[in-house]
Amino acid sequence: MSERSITLTVNDQSHNLKVGTRPGSVDPSHTLSYTLRETLGLTGTKVGCDKGECGACTVLMEGEPVLSCLILTIECDGKSITTIEGLENPQTGELDLVQQSFIDSGAFQCGFCTPGMIMSVKALLGENSSPTDEEIKETLSGHYCRCISHYHVLDAVAGAVTKNLPKAGDMDG
Ligand code: FES
Ligand code: FES
Repeated sequence: MSERSITLTVNDQSHNLKVGTRPGSVDPSHTLSYTLRETLGLTGTKVGCDKGECGACTVLMEGEPVLSCLILTIECDGKSITTIEGLENPQTGELDLVQQSFIDSGAFQCGFCTPGMIMSVKALLGENSSPTDEEIKETLSGHYCRCISHYHVLDAVAGAVTKNLPKAGDMDG
């Protein structure tokens, strides 16, 4: 009987992964966060609570934010995933505007919660280029920061919103 495998596209790179218990394979019990970190070496995605309560493990699946600690990898066959490593421009190395805005605002201390927050904000701005303060707070409400950097995070998101807005010239023609 042929071995089962699954395909994940992570940050535009396709990975064909065997399902099983051998090293480098995806055990049916592996979560997406485990596979990203331990199998694919993408350790930018953090795991805090590992039970869906802190938001640290947030990644985008088909452009939507998901808690990767709550999803089994074998359920992600054929899906496209974006992690924090996938946000920078691969050609120039330039950071995404949300990442840059967090840096400009000093919106982190230990940084453990930061990748998850950035992924959620990225999804928000993808859907809504000028969210209200309430919508921003609602988006961040599932993210726990033990360093209490929330006020700086709100500044960072406000900065990203401003930079994300279409410029007057972009509307012409
Ligand atoms: Fe996934 Fe906390 S590690 S929600
Ligand atoms: Fe440390 Fe948020 S900056 S947990």
